[in-house]
Amino acid sequence: MDRIRIVGGAPLVGTIPISGAKNAALPLMIASLLTDQTLILDNVPRLADVTQLKRILSNHGVDQSVDGKRAGQNGMAGETLRLTAGDIVDTVAPYELVSKMRASFWVVGPLVARMGEARVSLPGGCAIGTRPVDFFIAALKDLGADIDIDGGDVVARAKNGLRGNRVVFPKVTVGATHVAMMAASLAKGETVLENAAREPEIVDLATCLIRMGARIEGAGTSTIHIQGVERLTGARHPVMPDRIETGTYAMAVAMTGGDVLLENAIPDTLQTAIDVLTQVGAEITPTNQGIRVRRNGHGLNPVDVTTEPFPGFPTDLQAQLMALVSRADGRSHIRETIFENRFMHVQELARLGADIRLDGQMATVTGVGRLTGAQVMATDLRASVSLVIAGLAAEGETIVNRVYHLDRGFERIEDKLGGCGATIERLSS
Ligand code: EPZ
Repeated sequence: MDRIRIVGGAPLVGTIPISGAKNAALPLMIASLLTDQTLILDNVPRLADVTQLKRILSNHGVDQSVDGKRAGQNGMAGETLRLTAGDIVDTVAPYELVSKMRASFWVVGPLVARMGEARVSLPGGCAIGTRPVDFFIAALKDLGADIDIDGGDVVARAKNGLRGNRVVFPKVTVGATHVAMMAASLAKGETVLENAAREPEIVDLATCLIRMGARIEGAGTSTIHIQGVERLTGARHPVMPDRIETGTYAMAVAMTGGDVLLENAIPDTLQTAIDVLTQVGAEITPTNQGIRVRRNGHGLNPVDVTTEPFPGFPTDLQAQLMALVSRADGRSHIRETIFENRFMHVQELARLGADIRLDGQMATVTGVGRLTGAQVMATDLRASVSLVIAGLAAEGETIVNRVYHLDRGFERIEDKLGGCGATIERLSS
């Protein structure tokens, strides 16, 4: 199992190209099931989760091809993926595939919308929480699907097709908003999604669906209107830059000090995180190539933050912020409101010398003068990168174990950080 070795202390200086967003690429790839024509996605990140989803889509019969590197193409540029679900040969997504990557459960929407049936394994929980799918099931029922739970699978049927309806989400849910928007695109009549997720990845998917012929208004707001159409066509769409990767590297620079251009980053997709980082003491400057991040040289300020659905502070940056403020001059309070168990990084950060107290969903982080390198264990995707951030500022050597978690969501992290002066290497064992 690969490990990452870091020797802390070096400031980060240079440019980091931001990859296509994992959490936009996954729903965009799944949208290919909605049409028998070719969907071309540009700037697709090279990530383990994308590779896993390719496997699941080919299991359904989606033909896929990747454009080779063009002469002179920047090595860090994403790949161009051509997906053609000309003939869906299997409407079953089995446990052994779905359990490896939860978002693959989302194929249930396009499959039942286009084929009138789907059998998709319940994804099960994960390290950060039980992750139920009751909101997905309720939404598909609202759209006219018959749903049964059979042997750990969700079995969805709509022999006469889905029909538009009003869908009210009891709680903001990114995945169920994606799925309902995709399913409603092919339903008969109008659908209104209320209390919909407002994440930029929802807007990215809606933009792509509209290019495919869908009729959608209001993506990015809490109320989305979808007028169903008979069929969708192929299209070409670039995956948006990854706002979580952007926030992660901005926190790394704030942690180590330095001056880095986060190339292609889009500020308004993570404005709340930028505001928090500015409070902590980073200088963040939007430029026409992305976002420049500089550490103003003196100490880090403590902050009080609560994670919220977009446009609030993203839960996917909570672990990274905790690593950053572990070195602040004072006490910070971080409240996690989205997932019930997203503090797995606390005990690992403590091994590096962080002083963090947990009380239910509230973490109190008392800044310490220094962190000291140690062996640590990655537990989930974002927790693992918080250990990398801490290791970049810790004195001595830090070894992060189980970096397969990292590879799920951060493309070539050691190249991107190493290219800015960090002492970081992958140890393949
Ligand atoms: C998406 O997960 C992201 N994943 C997550 O990123 C992100 O943390 C999350 O949204 C919140 O922003 C992808 O986009 C692939 P939710 P999702 O439905 O859609 C509860 C990462 O690190 N809920 O918005 O699964 C749920 O348990 C990942 O990239 C139900 O109760 O999240 C959670 O408490 C981690 N029933 C809350 O809602 C449901 O049917 C929000 O979940 C669905 C969700």
